[in-house]
Amino acid sequence: MSKSIAGFSKLSKSKKIDWMVETYFSNAEQAKTVLKQYWNTNEKLQNLHDEFIENTITNYYLPLGVAPNFLINDKLYTIPMAIEESSVVAAASKAAKFWLDRGGFKTRVISTTKIGQVHFMYQGNTETLQQYFSHIKPKLIQDANPITKNMQKRGGGILDIELRDKTNDIEGYYQLHASFETLDAMGANFINSCLEQFAKTFKTEALTFDAFSETEKDIQIVMSILSNYVPECLVRAEVSCKVEDLTENDNISANEFATKFVQAVNIAEIEPYRAVTHNKGIMNGIDAVVLATGNDFRAIEACAHAYASRNGKYSSLSHAKVEDGIFTFWIEMPLALGTVGGLTGLHPLVKLSLELLHHPSAKELMQIVAVAGLAQNFAALRSLTTTGIQQGHMKMHLMNILNQFEATNDEKLILTEQFKNQTVSHSAVVEAIETLRSKSN
Ligand code: MEV
Repeated sequence: MSKSIAGFSKLSKSKKIDWMVETYFSNAEQAKTVLKQYWNTNEKLQNLHDEFIENTITNYYLPLGVAPNFLINDKLYTIPMAIEESSVVAAASKAAKFWLDRGGFKTRVISTTKIGQVHFMYQGNTETLQQYFSHIKPKLIQDANPITKNMQKRGGGILDIELRDKTNDIEGYYQLHASFETLDAMGANFINSCLEQFAKTFKTEALTFDAFSETEKDIQIVMSILSNYVPECLVRAEVSCKVEDLTENDNISANEFATKFVQAVNIAEIEPYRAVTHNKGIMNGIDAVVLATGNDFRAIEACAHAYASRNGKYSSLSHAKVEDGIFTFWIEMPLALGTVGGLTGLHPLVKLSLELLHHPSAKELMQIVAVAGLAQNFAALRSLTTTGIQQGHMKMHLMNILNQFEATNDEKLILTEQFKNQTVSHSAVVEAIETLRSKSN
């Protein structure tokens, strides 16, 4: 029976581990060995990782791969991807190569506005509140000046603040709905600091606003927080070519491929069961680059799916058409990313990834990430509408199965060669390993 513990966060790392392994593990020493295997011998680097979060007990590795040959607006990129799913980097590389020979990806940032809100309760006359808001708005902006002045110097800052009446949804509920330009920063800290200052000024100044009654003066701030929903921080990425240039093999005609591809996208546009999987494939590419570049993939995910539902029904983030013999495939989605602040200046692999991408601005990174999503989606739909997904997936999964059975390097060589001409399935691989091992005994 496990027990609770007080003051855990104050224990040293080794004491935390001792408590954990002794409380939860049948073989405490073995558990410790596993944890230690993942420690970095470079003490400085290990300390850096220890301090990213609270109660660190070890590091959790993900592979960092790269997908070369991405031609984006006529510039070549090798894209870093941190992901555990075996087929993702291979699929991205394949799609990059395919479009490299067909003009590459064209991208553009549509907008870069971020949002934050102060949620508050006010019991009283709405018009008087509007009067108060108009009166106090310049002071809200002015009081935030110590927070915004550096951002302003670089061309960003607060864009606007609106008062929003939400009393039809919740009695007495209003918002200060603010928009921001945060340039190369993702901007969470900047926005939250501004909002907390707005809230303070808004509540305090109400106490001396003459037109308010005593009850009206008592504004209750519920919370001040950025919104990860940024439908006006939008990027578009596109590929297009003549339909006749679409195929590389004889199994399917270019026309048939284009038709099936567009049908597959149309299905994802109208059918939520398919749209979720379709968008999951897009997020395979997006999250991997977001993670490699030290950005917040949870924020990106939450926003992407809200955006995919913006018309009241969950739908595809990408679109495709054939018009006048031209195949066009594109994605338009919100991506709030940063290339300064947060992990970007701290994590050595994030710094390396950003250097690999030619030190992009946030706008450039938005375009690269959108391309990774579109490429991933292209690769998935290409397989799905031609060979089926399992052929490629299982080929990549082969190594996972071999590792599960602790195959030696020699066994891996023999079996990967063998499975070049044989369909990979879990049972077929197990059988092949057993046969190989019985022969060598
Ligand atoms: C698997 O991670 C992603 C796919 O299922 C995406 C799709 O179905 O479009 C292959």
